[in-house]
Amino acid sequence: MTVAADAPPASPPRDDKRWRQVDVRIRRLGARPDALIEVLHTVQEVFGYLDDDALSYVSEALGVPPSRVLGVATFYSHFVRKPQGEHTCVVCMGTACYINGAGAILNRIHDTLGIDAGGTTPDGRISLLRARCLGACSMAPAVVVDDEVHGRISPDGVQQMLEAL
Ligand code: FES
Repeated sequence: MTVAADAPPASPPRDDKRWRQVDVRIRRLGARPDALIEVLHTVQEVFGYLDDDALSYVSEALGVPPSRVLGVATFYSHFVRKPQGEHTCVVCMGTACYINGAGAILNRIHDTLGIDAGGTTPDGRISLLRARCLGACSMAPAVVVDDEVHGRISPDGVQQMLEAL
């Protein structure tokens, strides 16, 4: 299957604004199979990991067989297939969020849960990931907890949220 560069890609797996960033990237790259690794990078930067729905979407949008997409996603250790924790917290470290205190948020999570980005609490409750931009820069700093975007969040706010999970 070949997708024309200006054709809208397949429907995103979820109604989530972050997919728009992925779609923009796919269009810029021409929706070609050889853009696979770059698109997977983009998905991971935006969502923090590559789940099955994301891989299916990329497969369809680029016209790459699902087995090849899965093969690439599992071959490179850089790609995270799934957060291991029951809950997921993604902290945006993009420019707008960084300037507005994302570092303090990460530090607070580290102090509270004892984990760094890419880690999971020993009890398997929460995985912490970082992303480059969640597409919510006007609400910086932003975090995503279990797929829900929270903007203008403070270190206290994120700590309370995580403790309530
Ligand atoms: S930089 Fe954080 S949402 Fe864009």
